[in-house]
Amino acid sequence: MSNGDVSQGRRRFLIGATSVVGGVGAVGAAVPFVASWNPSAKAEAAGAPVTVNVGKLEPGQQITVEWRGKPVWLIRRTQEMIDNLESMNERVKDPASEEPSQQPAYIGGNARSLKPELVVLVGICTHLGCVPSYRPEVAPEDLGAEWLGGMFCPCHGSRYDLSGRVFKNQPAPLNLEVPPYRYDDDSTITVGLDPETA
Ligand code: FES
Repeated sequence: MSNGDVSQGRRRFLIGATSVVGGVGAVGAAVPFVASWNPSAKAEAAGAPVTVNVGKLEPGQQITVEWRGKPVWLIRRTQEMIDNLESMNERVKDPASEEPSQQPAYIGGNARSLKPELVVLVGICTHLGCVPSYRPEVAPEDLGAEWLGGMFCPCHGSRYDLSGRVFKNQPAPLNLEVPPYRYDDDSTITVGLDPETA
């Protein structure tokens, strides 16, 4: 795959970031994204943290915001998605998130999140930087019967689970990055700030 293909993957994000929203809960997904775009675009220009209202994010739905020029995904996982994470441990390369470069110290384990129902990931493949596709469906024809939902990179085929953990034997060497983030309240997240310590 050429560098041109990689650039194309990045361009795809720039042209239409809402297109990464997967089939589940796709209807209405553009609304929270658009609502968050203007403030996040301004904040990104200054390199500032980005505050996102996740109160209307439905189970299975993904939205994308931009932080420091990167696409950041917020995915509300269903209970089934959360329950499936443990069964993925045998199939992923770093099940316990032990590579310190890929998440803050307060993130770990199967869920890789502050609260299991909502995961926050930088949507950039750790191989050569394409934007993976969110594929929440179970056993779609093109990804096979054992697919329990996750992210698929169209550039060279790397697969990640719904915590952004890369499968074994993929071109991508590392789990997707979890950015620093915190809850301001139950429905508000700020990307770019660590949780406040007591
Ligand atoms: S950029 Fe190569 S697999 Fe994603």
